[in-house]
Amino acid sequence: MTATPAEQTDADVLVFFGASGDLARKMIFPSLYGMVLHGELEVPVIGVAHSDWALEDLRDRARESVRATIDDVDEEVLDRLVGLLRYVDGDYREPATFEALKETVEDARRPVHYLAIPPSMFGTVIDGLAHVGLNKHARVVVEKPFGRDLASARELDGVVRRAFREESVFRIDHFLGKDEIMNLLYFRFANSFLEPVWNRDHIASVQVTIAEDFGVQGRGAFYETAGALRDVLENHMLQIVALLAMEPPAYQGYFAVHEAKANVFRAMRPLTRNDIVRGQFEGYRDEPGVARNSDVETYAAVRLFIDSWRWAGVPWYLRTGKHLPVTAHEIVVEFKRPPQALFDDAMMAQHPNHLRIRLQPDGEIALGARVKTPGEEFVGEQRELVVPTGSEASRGPYERLLGDALQGDRALFTSEESVEAAWHVVDGVLADHAPAIRYAPGTWGPTEADTLIGADGPWHDPVLKHHRSADDASRTAAQRKGK
Ligand code: BG6
Repeated sequence: MTATPAEQTDADVLVFFGASGDLARKMIFPSLYGMVLHGELEVPVIGVAHSDWALEDLRDRARESVRATIDDVDEEVLDRLVGLLRYVDGDYREPATFEALKETVEDARRPVHYLAIPPSMFGTVIDGLAHVGLNKHARVVVEKPFGRDLASARELDGVVRRAFREESVFRIDHFLGKDEIMNLLYFRFANSFLEPVWNRDHIASVQVTIAEDFGVQGRGAFYETAGALRDVLENHMLQIVALLAMEPPAYQGYFAVHEAKANVFRAMRPLTRNDIVRGQFEGYRDEPGVARNSDVETYAAVRLFIDSWRWAGVPWYLRTGKHLPVTAHEIVVEFKRPPQALFDDAMMAQHPNHLRIRLQPDGEIALGARVKTPGEEFVGEQRELVVPTGSEASRGPYERLLGDALQGDRALFTSEESVEAAWHVVDGVLADHAPAIRYAPGTWGPTEADTLIGADGPWHDPVLKHHRSADDASRTAAQRKGK
């Protein structure tokens, strides 16, 4: 794969649309601070927003955001970041905004435009940039969700591609910048013991849970346009599935990973109405920006199949939700039973072995196995061999991804092909689904999800303590069902 000089060279200005927004406050300013701290950001950063702000407001926001999110702020580093900031205020629909931006960019030749704005504004901003020639020798970084469905993703791609070549488009899924997600790739292919059992012959089912114990945190208006399916499942969760399900990359390098993942997306069977349970936490409709009769889901559980040689017939159960009992991201791979029941203990009826990968918090990899209980009887219990996989990486995902975008490294970004293939999987159920079922905050969502998983269950609810018995997870699920 060859890159033109525009892709190879470092950018000389970062233009940042949505600078007064929520994402900027929570994630971007702290990441920019980290980039300055690690010597990765020395170019001017131009914030653009429509907020009636002046440069001093942007500086205040940056300071406030960094101090609120980072412990032990190095004030000298923060001053350097603040010193890099420039500001343009204006309506994205007005050509004057882009004229002002062009003046502020001055003689920078290789801008990176980062669109931390609602997807509905992408087209407007991209056209505005092209209108004043700021698309030349430039890259554009686009936040997920890229489109609202397959048709709008294609349409948006058409808009983007009017102004930028595919090589200059960086589609962010911040999960791909997380160390724990990279460890999935590493763990799978740096070990030889997994490959022989990593297939339909040995694996009964796979569960992936992305649970959050908080609600929509003031993002009701955004959430109304997204819901759990578009916000988390279509992107973050399917990316995790692709990393778990992909064939070994054909050669060393990230583009081989892209290709292998794209093949998984292509092999995913599109979801149908019966494959999904949608839920909505009680109180969601009272959130600011939310319609009083909203049917938007804050919880989704799906059953997915990957129609490939390796995975035929293996169900993948994915669930994500707001206001669940814990915040945790976890994968549980259930292995099939031994072919003969040589021992009488009841648990042999269920899956005796699993691999559990806790992505966060407190990353760990655990192998669930049965061991004999001391005594004359041949009865045992399920235990876990647990390996902690380390604490937080020194660089957060946005810091890493924005740094890569400034350097023109596309390895951790998604291709249009993968984006479309992922939309293809969920497209049908975006419109064709049963109404969202209410659930009480602090519970594991609608009990209908237990029916969805049926005999492949129970769901393994992440338990937040380091060393727990593997039976704990099954027990919590059984208790939930009132057993
Ligand atoms: C974002 C979603 O993409 O991912 C949020 O918009 C979600 O709703 C978040 O909370 C989860 O990511 P992280 O990195 O905070 O676990």
